[in-house]
Amino acid sequence: MQFVTALDSNFFPQRNNFHKNYMSYEITLWHHDHRPGNRVQRFCFDVLTVGAFTFHFSMSHSLRVVLREVVDADLPIFFAHQCDAESTRMAAFPARDHDAFFAHWAKIRRDPANIIKTIVFEGEVAGNIGSWPAGDKRLLAYWIGREFWGRGIATAALAAFILEVKHRPLHAFVVKHNIGSIRVLQKSGFIQQDSASTKGEDGLEDLLFALPQ
Ligand SMILES: CC(C)(COP(=O)(O)OP(=O)(O)OC[C@H]1O[C@@H](n2cnc3c(N)ncnc32)[C@H](O)[C@@H]1OP(=O)(O)O)[C@@H](O)C(=O)NCCC(=O)NCCS
Repeated sequence: MQFVTALDSNFFPQRNNFHKNYMSYEITLWHHDHRPGNRVQRFCFDVLTVGAFTFHFSMSHSLRVVLREVVDADLPIFFAHQCDAESTRMAAFPARDHDAFFAHWAKIRRDPANIIKTIVFEGEVAGNIGSWPAGDKRLLAYWIGREFWGRGIATAALAAFILEVKHRPLHAFVVKHNIGSIRVLQKSGFIQQDSASTKGEDGLEDLLFALPQ
């Protein structure tokens, strides 16, 4: 259950360049709910006045995905995300138990070669995305909490990540049945390396994708 606890004062009309009588309004709602962090929702709508007529249109809910450094408070959220059975089936990656998970994250956060970001969607921690060196490659992976799926968050996070992280080529292994993740990679320009698929010990086929130079 969520409560609107504050109505921001962003209700300031901004004159749009398109037409002198075209105004854009913005309202920001700040929510608190059972999960850590505040959710911010923004509604924008436009008003065009022509003579005696006023047209209200294009009310929209803007999607806001930002990447930031990982902080300790994110880890229990990431832990919960990776415990989800449907997610682990999708990624073909088993969940770590509590101690193994926290030990793993302490280790990867210490290594300066790793670039790891928290994905924040409208003020809430929605997942993580990271890249690390592995042999002659630099690999990439991401994980979105199940409650955030299907809202374009992975796509937006990956687009932001590759703008920020300039290493090329960037590689990602994806199990063949993970259609969602394959789509996310393809939308950001990753190309399947046909000759490089491998079969894991579980018998599942991993496909290799690369973002070229
Ligand atoms: C795979 C995953 C990252 C997708 O995240 P998401 O935020 O829901 O993805 P998006 O909303 O950005 O969707 C991107 C595209 O993938 C498609 N897609 C997402 N999940 C899908 C699914 N389960 N089946 C089919 N298509 C799917 C979307 O329809 C969208 O395609 P479109 O733009 O052509 O409509 C997320 O489900 C996840 O983290 N899963 C568990 C961990 C995992 O698999 N990580 C990746 C390891 S390689």
